[in-house]
Amino acid sequence: MNILVIGSGGRENAICLKIKQSQKLNNLYTLPKNSVFEKFSENLDINPNDFEGISKLCEDKKIELVVVGPEDPLSRGVSDYLVSKGIKVFGPKLKGAVLESSKQVAKEFMFRNYIPTAEFKIFYDSNYAKEYINGLTKFPVVIKADGLCSGKGVRVCNDLDEAVKAVEDFMEKRIFGSSGMKIIVEEYLSGKECSVMCFVDGKKYLMMPLSRDHKRLKDDNEGPNTGGMGAVAPVEADKETLRRIEEDIIWRFMEAVIRERIDYRGVIYFGIMLTDDGPKVLEFNVRFGDPETQAVLGLIDDDIVDIFDETASGEIKRTSIKIKKQNSVCVVLSAEGYPENPVKGDEIFGLDKIDPDLDVYYAGVRYENGRYFTNGGRVLNLVGYADTMELARKKVYENISRINFRGMHYRKDIGLL
Ligand code: AMP
Ligand code: GLY
Repeated sequence: MNILVIGSGGRENAICLKIKQSQKLNNLYTLPKNSVFEKFSENLDINPNDFEGISKLCEDKKIELVVVGPEDPLSRGVSDYLVSKGIKVFGPKLKGAVLESSKQVAKEFMFRNYIPTAEFKIFYDSNYAKEYINGLTKFPVVIKADGLCSGKGVRVCNDLDEAVKAVEDFMEKRIFGSSGMKIIVEEYLSGKECSVMCFVDGKKYLMMPLSRDHKRLKDDNEGPNTGGMGAVAPVEADKETLRRIEEDIIWRFMEAVIRERIDYRGVIYFGIMLTDDGPKVLEFNVRFGDPETQAVLGLIDDDIVDIFDETASGEIKRTSIKIKKQNSVCVVLSAEGYPENPVKGDEIFGLDKIDPDLDVYYAGVRYENGRYFTNGGRVLNLVGYADTMELARKKVYENISRINFRGMHYRKDIGLL
């Protein structure tokens, strides 16, 4: 099978590596242009939002399956376009993708389908929002911009001043452009977070091992929120929690997509808070999580191309996924200045010293004449595997000590939470 993967970060690198392990693969194509992706795929200089260009590529190269990594092309309708041209796509069409690109749509979907989530109110006007916040007696409160903001559109506000500032930043200053036209003011939930990803073919689902992202920049969950500084899998949950995740969240989601005729094919990601009142959904992502995917895919013991193909065809045949009895720890190495203003162009040393049983994914790296350079905020993802979380941690951190680049930063506590 000829396969195209759209996207060129660490998550897509992990997806590509898993696809490369399949007997079913003929040729692997990737886009957009990325000098490291040229090492393991036929990499093309086509923009992920150039749907016509992608469709033409699929025709020219006889591509039979397109796997979409990031949310942006999904939220612009890449699947709708390609499916209308007769191309099989792993990734939902607009009607599903909007569950990530509009938090209002997501919250209203959860509310009408009895999917547990934080209490919320939606505002179209900053004066009404401020008036409402002024009347609040309990803080923190969570303020979210409606649209896509690369993971920066959520603020946990500890007092009235912070909340008013969030409303002004999102709605008046429009720091995220039209994404802040509407906001959601939400009840603050406390507990431990976990990420649940499922393959969904429109009618059936397959649950992947639970995982956990580490969003803050610094150890002990301090510093600003980032796209994710590391992830671990599997996350252990007791039987009752697992039952409620499946029955109260996943089943209700599946019933809802069927009832609302959302032909959902791809991955649904539930960001979940494990509260004292049970698991509640913080957000949907309509694609693989980053960096959770880097921790989870290596634990899957089935042919991933079969799973992608069955999912995109609307025909999941199996009832479960084979999972290796291992733990994985993924640590993100980030560049100086990340997340605000990451510095690019520093040479990376030591990649040749990494043990072969680890996975190394290039999240933001440029390759030139045998040398590697930083080329993004999140630069590398190292994933270690072992029989226990503690051993996997040890392995990954030992290997990280062999890598260096100027300004390199990483959290030392991934998997300790
Ligand atoms: P989201 O993009 O909605 O997942 O939000 C990003 C992060 O903000 C989450 O991973 C949580 O850490 C935090 N967050 C979002 N909503 C809430 C909430 N209602 N209560 C507490 N924390 C939240
Ligand atoms: N890890 C969270 C995300 O992918 O958005």
